[in-house]
Amino acid sequence: MSTPGRDAAREAATGAVPPGSRAGARPRWAPERFAFGCDYNPEQWDPSVWQEDVVLMCEAGVDLVAVNVFGWSDVEPEPGRFDFSRLDAVVDLLHTHGIGVNLGTGTSSPPPWLSTLHPEILPVMADGTTRWPGGRQAYCPSSPVFRERSRALVEQVAQRYGAHPGVRLWHVSNELGCHNSLCYCDVTAEAFRAWLSARYGTVDALNAAWGTSFWSQRYGAFEQVLPPRATVSSRNPSQVLDFHRFSSDELLDLYRGEAEIIRSHSDIPVTTNFMVTAHQRDMDYFAWAPDMDVVANDHYLDHRLPDPLAELAFAADTTRGIAGGRPWLLMEHSTSAVNWQPVNVAKSPGEMLRVSLAHVARGADALCFFQWRASAQGAEKFHSALLPHAGTSSRTWQEVLELSRTLDALQEVVGSTVRSDVALVFSYESWWAADGENRPSADVRYLEQVHAMYGALRAAGLAVDVVPPGAAPEVLARYRMLVVPELYLVRDTEAAAIEQYVADGGHALVTFFSGIVDEDDRVRLGGYPGAFRDMLGVVSDEFHPLLPGRTVTLDTGATASLWTEQLRVVTAKAVAHHVDGPLPGVPAITRNEHGHGTGWYVATALDLDHATELVREVAAHAGIQPMPGAGPQVEVVRRAHDGGASYLFVINHSDDVVEVPVPGHELTRGERAETVRVPAGAVRVVREDETR
Ligand code: GLA
Repeated sequence: MSTPGRDAAREAATGAVPPGSRAGARPRWAPERFAFGCDYNPEQWDPSVWQEDVVLMCEAGVDLVAVNVFGWSDVEPEPGRFDFSRLDAVVDLLHTHGIGVNLGTGTSSPPPWLSTLHPEILPVMADGTTRWPGGRQAYCPSSPVFRERSRALVEQVAQRYGAHPGVRLWHVSNELGCHNSLCYCDVTAEAFRAWLSARYGTVDALNAAWGTSFWSQRYGAFEQVLPPRATVSSRNPSQVLDFHRFSSDELLDLYRGEAEIIRSHSDIPVTTNFMVTAHQRDMDYFAWAPDMDVVANDHYLDHRLPDPLAELAFAADTTRGIAGGRPWLLMEHSTSAVNWQPVNVAKSPGEMLRVSLAHVARGADALCFFQWRASAQGAEKFHSALLPHAGTSSRTWQEVLELSRTLDALQEVVGSTVRSDVALVFSYESWWAADGENRPSADVRYLEQVHAMYGALRAAGLAVDVVPPGAAPEVLARYRMLVVPELYLVRDTEAAAIEQYVADGGHALVTFFSGIVDEDDRVRLGGYPGAFRDMLGVVSDEFHPLLPGRTVTLDTGATASLWTEQLRVVTAKAVAHHVDGPLPGVPAITRNEHGHGTGWYVATALDLDHATELVREVAAHAGIQPMPGAGPQVEVVRRAHDGGASYLFVINHSDDVVEVPVPGHELTRGERAETVRVPAGAVRVVREDETR
């Protein structure tokens, strides 16, 4: 069972506890150079290949290599028999070539002998079906057997390599929860009950929180409670929500168990690779971050999305937010295509460099790839790598060398942080709760609404920080503008912090279906948008979501879709009204003077152009200047050292030359310029004359 320390972790993540205070004097990742690296799976290759690998790694400037990520069946071929001969050789080989080791604990995928001996570790889906070995990560996160066996392995690995001079970083498991985040087996049921008992104390408190008088669901004892398995009807939404909380905590507990063992043998920083990305919502990384010595993320462009580059920017800004603004590590991305999308789009010439530097611009101090050498066998054999099947004669290899040289030219940027005047509130709990069953419209999806507002901010050229709900008032006070998209679930304290922010002179832009429920998913009565009614000076009686494909027009000329609501202004002023649709004449956008600040409300889903126009207007009202030259195809982001040099990254994804008037020294070409000229598809980084 996970420790019920989630709320403490949340406090730390939101700034209520100074970062690191829970962690004590844990090691920090603070190198003087960017790390450039990759996953390396030498167990897939004959040892005769390894020598060539390290020589080419040196040629490419690779200096951080993750090994033993999927090593369990190699280092423990039989229960309790450990054979580190191959890993010893690899770690020593890397070290003698000056390449740092990012050492995996090896627990991410149990070997076949373990699931043969203990089939009860296998994960079970909501419908009761088991997921079998033959892929990876086939284990239940709550399984005591898995925990015991994996921790025995970590003990061996940490003891053996804890003081090895080549180890620079510990890599716990791999993408915890990637495939097995929600398990519904009987072992999980027991762990869930223990978690609930720690959270609620009494079954009556659980009944109250879950509203179990509805549909005759009242529990007489914790023993009667199950994970939210597949039912014949809809499930209890509060139960589903708590199951998400529990499951995220349970995976964090796996991390903690391994990290504790490592820390008893080693002073090297410990982390695991997050998946801050559009297709993973099950782990609340804001709650996980205080346990990391450095935050690391994996990110792949997702061509199933309408704007993969905007999603990348959002994911990178969110990772930085999770890291509390500090630099973070990009632990995995790809040189070109992945293998797990329906169509795996290869990168065009120059795209890898642009995408990589888009992460650096947003705070990454390491650029690592999955993986070193493209596999010849297995499910990922068509995934790109630094060294493709075609070898060093490939374009990819040449671009890897170019990226490495470019990164070298940027070394002085390491350790600097990103500066933004705008913060966007992002909530895993709202994602879980708002996208549940039986909501007003299944077409309204939390992340899409977040992306919509982020996309508008990006198109308007505004740099954005991402903060969790309940970010401490002193954190919110750093921003001139706060964007709150679909914050469906909000605690009283979190809503109060946002209201205080506005009352103190901040400018908040809140979008529809926000402030609706409390932390138990209980509706806030008295009219929508519940928690934010006073701050926004409006009240809605009823939602009128739109059928797929329907649009409405506003008197500003904007087109909107998905959502309308019967909105009345109380103290607010209407900024735009519906012209047609179910609610002609009803306000759609409002603005309210509240204390010393302003609360704006958008009660519909605006088209991108008008959403962009609106965020520009709010930003202008808040006194914020957009970044010069920035737009949907041109990213302009500033990183700066505290009290020192500042750097403007200009990333030109367009087919046209871009010129930005920023006097300074351009680092990639080593030239001085009054105006930086960025050719189509190129990146330039200027150390600004005027320090910001
Ligand atoms: C994830 C995993 C890697 C690999 C890549 C492929 O990031 O951590 O092991 O599977 O995906 O994109």
